[in-house]
Amino acid sequence: MSHITVDTLDAVRVLRLARPEKKNALTVEMYAALHEALAAAREEAAVRVVVLTGAPGVFTAGNDLGDFLQHPPTGEDSAVFRFLHALVEFPKPVVAAVDGPAIGIGTTLLLHCDLVVATARAKLALPFAKLALVPEAGSSFLLPLFAGYHRAAEWLPLGEPFSGEDAHRAGLVNRLVAPEALDDTALALARALAALPPEAVQLSKRLLRDPLHDATLATIRREAAVFVERLQSAEARQAFQAFFARK
Ligand code: COA
Repeated sequence: MSHITVDTLDAVRVLRLARPEKKNALTVEMYAALHEALAAAREEAAVRVVVLTGAPGVFTAGNDLGDFLQHPPTGEDSAVFRFLHALVEFPKPVVAAVDGPAIGIGTTLLLHCDLVVATARAKLALPFAKLALVPEAGSSFLLPLFAGYHRAAEWLPLGEPFSGEDAHRAGLVNRLVAPEALDDTALALARALAALPPEAVQLSKRLLRDPLHDATLATIRREAAVFVERLQSAEARQAFQAFFARK
């Protein structure tokens, strides 16, 4: 019951978030399953590219807020940080396909993917400050770098949602497509990458990411120290309880 499905289509490994009843909110168990799936995809030579996606109409509502209360991450050994680490260190290309809400880590994990396909109804959001939290997953470094400081300063502290179209305009999304074309477009890009000489593809990814690597990991570590503390704060607990009491 890890709520992650794993499929192999020729040289492409497709990881799908599958907890639709909770809008694919990510639990400790799901991070552990993603970590395991990335480790397997890394080891298997026949796998050349990974596609990471959700369900039609929902990528993910971000971290499960109940889990944040019951099983908060405490440090680098926690499932969420192990997953992030595996993603940052993943040597093969990752193509993300995003439809509907992509909240919190649903947006920040995209910064570690190599190609991002999204629909116009993709709804990205970084509501960390609203939840009395702080940026995570290296986003305080990578978002201003990729999208420009002022856009990052608007999306991060204000936490207003932004559309797939906004993200495309900001350079965070490679292809903006209709919902019915999402899977095929992501798969076509993955297959195109998988058809290239794999060593050259992995070396190219490494050359692109190397200049960011150390600063990304250092930022994740710095953010995590504050984030883990914030989770215990009275204002964060109040914000999570307000979410569950909203109905
Ligand atoms: N953690 C835990 N449960 C969540 C969740 C989350 N992050 N996001 C959604 N859910 C649950 C809801 O509690 C609800 O459960 P219920 O049916 O048992 O009450 C179910 O998923 C459906 O969510 P709902 O809010 O009814 O769907 P919606 O279509 O109206 O809204 C979202 C979808 C994603 C916009 C909204 O659920 C949301 O804002 N979620 C929180 C996002 C968030 O703050 N994430 C953390 C970022 S750090």
